[in-house]
Amino acid sequence: MKLLSVAGARPNFMKLAAIAWAVDNFNNTISPDNCAIQHVIVHTGQHYDKKMSQTFFDDLAIPKPDINLEVGSGSHAVQTAEIMKKFEPVLLAEQPDVLLVVGDVNSTIACSLVAAKIEYPANSNRRRPLIVHVEAGLRSFDPDMPEEINRILTDSISDLLFVTEESGINNLRHSGVPDEKIHMVGNVMIDTLQRHLKKARLSDIREQLALPERYGIVTLHRPSNVDTQETLEPLLSAIHTISQDIPLIFPIHPRTLKHIELFGLTSLVNWSTYPDDELQHDHSSAGSNSGVFIMPPLGYLDFLSLVEKASLVITDSGGIQEETTYLQIPCMTLRHNTERPITVTIGSNYLLGTSPEKILETASSILKGSAKTGSIPDKWDGMAGTRVVDIIYHEYLAQKNNNS
Ligand code: UD1
Repeated sequence: MKLLSVAGARPNFMKLAAIAWAVDNFNNTISPDNCAIQHVIVHTGQHYDKKMSQTFFDDLAIPKPDINLEVGSGSHAVQTAEIMKKFEPVLLAEQPDVLLVVGDVNSTIACSLVAAKIEYPANSNRRRPLIVHVEAGLRSFDPDMPEEINRILTDSISDLLFVTEESGINNLRHSGVPDEKIHMVGNVMIDTLQRHLKKARLSDIREQLALPERYGIVTLHRPSNVDTQETLEPLLSAIHTISQDIPLIFPIHPRTLKHIELFGLTSLVNWSTYPDDELQHDHSSAGSNSGVFIMPPLGYLDFLSLVEKASLVITDSGGIQEETTYLQIPCMTLRHNTERPITVTIGSNYLLGTSPEKILETASSILKGSAKTGSIPDKWDGMAGTRVVDIIYHEYLAQKNNNS
């Protein structure tokens, strides 16, 4: 069986790592002498900075991509179209039996859409690949969120849908996806987290940053939070206020840094002492009394090591809501909705919206020691990738038998 997996942006890479590991493990267990699954990896190049991409391949020992489409940045339409244009000839040349996409980024919908409409040459044994979506069924019900559009569309053209939490099953059933296509397998991000926790504990990032025992972490990058001054300034002010009680480390997405500078908000942040080879910016305007310490995006192991010991995490990311739930670290999500409701209902996540009052109140109660620790969702047990690969292979064999 030939499996082609696609990854393009930072949150894809930890999911790809779990799949690559599971494929290797499958090959070694099932047929050590005869590779049952040939795995081809395509990187679309949606993220291309070393710290947004290559570092993750290094940290997570992901095999070097066989093909990089090098699409880079652009508007949603341009980026999606570029990926589609460059992916079509790759798919025709490789003719995989299975296309696997993860998550909800533009690379996810672009490549699955190409696969749904492709026609392999007449002498091929199939018309198109089986389309597999890992992390299917998540819904924020927010049509203004680009990822929500990507999720709905990708799910609607996938043949096998792998779900991380109960809500995903219900959402897919509601959209009319038949039960036989839906598989609750758990969370591949947590496979990768479990497998790398020991190594992450060797990171000396806390010493490098000279952090006290109690500190927090901030990540913000959603366009709805960072692209206008009206939304970014009150959030950053609230974060600045929290930093008067506890230092906050802020590994910053390029989009967010650009907007902090553009809106003249640098006095609300400080610059970390972290060796700064990329943030070659004017540090003179930074607020010297701010405890919000900006630093370049971190690699996977350093970030995980920081999160594991943090007193609180403030974020608008999707994946970090899940990682903090698994690690039982209080997480304040600065969004009005979450596509990962289990992190709130049973996990350690607080869905706060963007009201500064609510953010400050929750931070204060967490710091006073009344945070919920939550519990770990079903099947977030390190075996999700193995379940995905087993199910794909059985489906492939079933289809092959039907055709012969
Ligand atoms: C993308 C995903 C988002 C994910 C996020 C994680 C979509 C629709 N969004 O958003 O779901 O949470 O990745 O990081 O796919 N840039 C760089 N270097 C890079 C990549 C981007 O400087 O390596 C800058 C560019 O100015 C670019 C901007 O960041 O225009 C946004 O990048 P893009 O990939 O379009 O979306 P993200 O905001 O990163």
